[in-house]
Amino acid sequence: MENTNCVILAAGDGKRMFARSSKVLCEVAYKPMLLWVVDTARQSGIADICCVVSNPDVESAVEGSCSVCWQRERLGTGHAVRSALGFLEARRGQDTLVLLGDAPFMDREAVLGSLELHRQSGACETVISARVKDPTGYGRIVRRNGRMSAIVEELDCDDATRRIDEINSGAAWFRTDQLIEALGRITNDNRKGEYYLTDTIGIFSREGKRVECFTASSPDVVLGANSPLHLLNLNDIAAERAILRHLERGVHFVKRDGVVIGPDVEIAPGATILPGTVLYGSTRVGRGSVIGPNSLLCNVTVGEDTEFNSSQGFDSTIGSGAKIGPFVQIRPGSAIGDRVKIGDFVEIKNSSIGEGTSLAHLTYIGDSDVGRYCNFGCGVVVVNYDGESKNRCTVEDYAFIGCNTNLVSPVRVGR
Ligand code: UD1
Ligand code: CA
Repeated sequence: MENTNCVILAAGDGKRMFARSSKVLCEVAYKPMLLWVVDTARQSGIADICCVVSNPDVESAVEGSCSVCWQRERLGTGHAVRSALGFLEARRGQDTLVLLGDAPFMDREAVLGSLELHRQSGACETVISARVKDPTGYGRIVRRNGRMSAIVEELDCDDATRRIDEINSGAAWFRTDQLIEALGRITNDNRKGEYYLTDTIGIFSREGKRVECFTASSPDVVLGANSPLHLLNLNDIAAERAILRHLERGVHFVKRDGVVIGPDVEIAPGATILPGTVLYGSTRVGRGSVIGPNSLLCNVTVGEDTEFNSSQGFDSTIGSGAKIGPFVQIRPGSAIGDRVKIGDFVEIKNSSIGEGTSLAHLTYIGDSDVGRYCNFGCGVVVVNYDGESKNRCTVEDYAFIGCNTNLVSPVRVGR
């Protein structure tokens, strides 16, 4: 989208969340909240994104995909945007979208709907609001004769204002030039002693400049997490939404219990997801495959008509017509061929397994290339590490390895 840019507020610690690092890295459906927000900006067509950070972990989470500005002290949302002044100065003449890094369900519909209102009305600022059942904790949208006249934070509310159920999502479009000008005039004269970005409404209004408010159709756009309970609620919503999204496309489920599907997962129609299954990252599941019960796949591509039962897989590919599980672990860097059979207590790491090969029980294959239609007896172990370095084994097509064999790498087993 032309002449647009986005500033995402992602500074602050994780104290109230009891998080290891920053709150915005807390995960919803196994994806950090901040990355949900970055994707919303991207999916709305905004290519030019700057994250305001105060933590090196957050910087590395977005490095390479976004610009980064540092906010050394957490002095409020207005101060946070001011930390991105350099980014904004270089983008004069555009429109700036400010998003909050802890509101993962802000959506494309609200971002684009509010931009349309913003541009058609010629407003300096267009806030995205929503009507909610419980407005506690949020900034209230105060309207006079139907038009927004102010946003009042919870702490600064009188009783009547506190009852208003239309609240500020924290996201807003600004004319970049007007934003730069207003940032210099925000003060911290309020109960919290913070520089509130929402004060720009008053600044523009007092000068007779136009401000607008776009009410989002989904109240979820405002939801954020200030406590572990809030985060759990966001996860519940994300899980239910993901199931509905895949049901509509023809994916089968027998029960919702324990099913968690990340926002970037793709599942073909006709696949079945059984209880206790967690799919995340860029996992892909093909038509007719059955995943679960009690399975986990992270960044794994699964072909068609494959069974994956009570097992785990990471950063790997699995072909079609394979039977995996129960109790298998497929570790990163593995490529499992079509119609491979892997049975209980087998671990595969950084290895390729050719079409039709069978590893039925109690086996470890690490750093190896195994051919097609091989048979591994019970208890075969690749000894890939000699204490100093790792070596690779090669097993050629049609090999038959007997029970309890240790292949001390590097070994080549012929065809
Ligand atoms: C803010 C809004 C409120 C709105 C609510 C929606 C203001 C003054 N208030 O309140 O009207 O209803 O969001 O959730 O804007 N952040 C920084 N640096 C700071 C302060 C905050 O980066 O110095 C980031 C935080 O990481 C967070 C976001 O900005 O992602 C919102 O900050 P927070 O303090 O949670 O704002 P609220 O008080 O919830
Ligand atoms: Ca908040």
